[in-house]
Amino acid sequence: MSLPASDTSKRADQRTTMDLGAVLPKTAAVEDDHLHIGGVDMVELAQQQGTPLYVFDEADLTFRMQEYRRAFRERYPDSDIIYASKSFLNKEVVRLAEREGLCLDVSGGGELACARMVDFPMQRVFVHGNNKTFDELNEAISAGVGRIVVDSRTELRRVAAIAKEHGTTQNIYLRITPGVEADTHEYIRTGCEDSKFGFTMREDFAFTCLEEAINTDNVRLVGLHCHIGSQIFALHSFAEAVEVMVAFMARVRDEYGYAIEELDMGGGLGIAYTAEDEPSSVDDFAETITAAVKRCCAEHDLPLPRLLVEPGRSLTANAGVTLYRVGNMKTLPGIRKYVAIDGGMSDNIRTALYHAEYEPTIANKAGQPRTEIVTLCGKHCESGDAVVIDMPLQVAAVDDIVCVFATGAYNATMASNYNGQPRPAVVFVKDGEARVTTRRETYEDLYSRDM
Ligand code: LLP
Repeated sequence: MSLPASDTSKRADQRTTMDLGAVLPKTAAVEDDHLHIGGVDMVELAQQQGTPLYVFDEADLTFRMQEYRRAFRERYPDSDIIYASKSFLNKEVVRLAEREGLCLDVSGGGELACARMVDFPMQRVFVHGNNKTFDELNEAISAGVGRIVVDSRTELRRVAAIAKEHGTTQNIYLRITPGVEADTHEYIRTGCEDSKFGFTMREDFAFTCLEEAINTDNVRLVGLHCHIGSQIFALHSFAEAVEVMVAFMARVRDEYGYAIEELDMGGGLGIAYTAEDEPSSVDDFAETITAAVKRCCAEHDLPLPRLLVEPGRSLTANAGVTLYRVGNMKTLPGIRKYVAIDGGMSDNIRTALYHAEYEPTIANKAGQPRTEIVTLCGKHCESGDAVVIDMPLQVAAVDDIVCVFATGAYNATMASNYNGQPRPAVVFVKDGEARVTTRRETYEDLYSRDM
């Protein structure tokens, strides 16, 4: 795989770091030409901790968790925010979500294990996944998780059998694919008809399975779930999904006399990766969803359900950045300029996978305009290994520290050890202090499982 041809129409735009607005973590600042986050000098931090390095602005993360809760609760008191831990997971972020009163979305046993290790309240855990294994379901049920979001009929029966073994009744949701085409990359679109996730509404399949769920012992159907996709800018897609889900709840009441008490509308709010992106605010997202739920419930004469949403990216992406060191450079006239960094597709696969766009700056030249268009390529044995393709950057020199913004979501959690690359440490910064919350992987770690 190679990179897409360079877009020679792109011009360096003279924007400096602080002009990147919503892309930046909230405490980003430039002092003496150095980028600071959380009151910590990123150049010094890179020197001390090594690169590549994932850095999180803790105040930003906390702010966004509180903002989500406030935005929903002030419009809709019976609401909760479920943090989608797949976007970024380590013990410290789970502790933070716990302190901020969030619930936790875990996909499978590995994410659940992290929650258990830090004593996250199990009643606030929601278990997802389109193919949870028997062992994962067994772990979840014996741990006493709050809700299992059931994805198939096979799973429904499995959950019931395991709960019976444990002598309990498990609260469940059914995941429905509402048939809404969200306006985003096709790989992360999940609510449309052709999806491996959940129960399709086609040919009444979801409805028939719901009848089975109501009549199955050892499970209690408390709610419905949907997730229409990720990195969504057009809020109307969420309102459309609400309409489908509430109409479904009304039909369940009319035909089975059964009350669905909870509605989980999933995650998906888009964020600013580049200065050109104009995502919706959390308040507008909350307004769209809560207004649609109230309106649709009134139309169908339904009581308001407990309402939940499951943001991941919009909590973590802009709070996180990645620091790299420049190793070498190469200019191919008429083609592009490569600046090689000491990480790449192993710490950020999103560019290779989705042609994601990111804004970079040089942390030790952060006050200067970004006058060149460059490609930040990684160190891996793959031509498609780039983190930033054709974006403005200050004139780079060997040993400069490059900061790539908005890497807090789906970077660390999708990282690999390709080419024997140890995964980066994760550092939280706040009020001038830096704390390592996940240490850098060592060479010993890499081979610790080998016999
Ligand atoms: N709930 C469920 C059931 C999900 O599957 C997801 C994300 C979320 C919530 C959180 O969605 P968010 O608010 O983060 O959009 N690796 C891709 C994104 C995959 C999203 C998977 N599901 C990326 O890097 O863009």
